Amino acid sequence: MKVLIATDKPFAKIAVDGIRQEIEAAGFELALLEKYTEKQQLLDAVVDANAIIIRSDIIDAEVIAAAKALKIVVRAGAGYDNVDLEAATKAGICVMNTPGQNANAVAELVFGLLVFAVRNQYNGTSGTELMGKKLGIHAYGNVGRNVARIAKGFGMDLYAYDAFCPAEVIEKDGVKALSSVEELYSTCDIVSLHIPATAETKKSINAALLAKLPKGAVLVNTARKEVIDEAQMVEFMNERTDFRYVTDILPSNHAEMVEKFEARYFSTPKKMGAQTSEANINAGIAAAKQIADFLKTGNEKYRVN
Ligand code: 3PG
Repeated sequence: MKVLIATDKPFAKIAVDGIRQEIEAAGFELALLEKYTEKQQLLDAVVDANAIIIRSDIIDAEVIAAAKALKIVVRAGAGYDNVDLEAATKAGICVMNTPGQNANAVAELVFGLLVFAVRNQYNGTSGTELMGKKLGIHAYGNVGRNVARIAKGFGMDLYAYDAFCPAEVIEKDGVKALSSVEELYSTCDIVSLHIPATAETKKSINAALLAKLPKGAVLVNTARKEVIDEAQMVEFMNERTDFRYVTDILPSNHAEMVEKFEARYFSTPKKMGAQTSEANINAGIAAAKQIADFLKTGNEKYRVN
């Protein structure tokens, strides 16, 4: 059996070594395709792969059609909006993610971005502190929970809204559960996005919702760019000169955002949230173990399609 790691943004070497150990101990062979620049390289690499480990790499119908021997794709991470689940299901391919494995890394970056934003991008002028501010956690999954844990250390007041997580679960962590997304945005000084990109959430962060934020608010996005209505974000930032936006996912209109709002907008050039050795090891090895278990015993825990 051949397991392919196909990562445009490579794992740390120590994680690749750990994955190799897991895969070889299970009696399988490991192949590696990193930093590919053309889709054709991916199409060629998947031809004889029985299993693939990916990150944000796009597994669309064309890749699935080329992967004639493929049984399983594991997205080493949380979001699987980069995989065509329908095409995978039709081809009889199991798709999994590795929930929680990179959550702390992403949550730590939220605070890296926030301190940078409220200290005026370290430009030497007087900024503000996080202590005592109201932090709104938009979706209380694995990353949201880690954000709550870290925010307590900063002395922030915590609020969350999650359409699927019961209020008792949120409140058990000392976080106030709000009953609507509008209430979260009108209550909080800072909102941290942790919603997945789905048909329902795409472009859901629009001008009407952002307008509810109090003066001086900050939005931090370590989730997906697709959840933002980018045209409305520009309109909103034109009007609300007090508002700041920091993101770990380069917007499609990054050049325009820099040109218009340089002092109130920042994006990392490449998604860095999960880019730590620890997260690479956790997610990569979990993916390798899930693949070995699936191929040997048929265990489908973490299947998402
Ligand atoms: C995820 O969904 O797990 C994060 O967005 C991290 O994505 P990455 O593995 O491409 O860095």
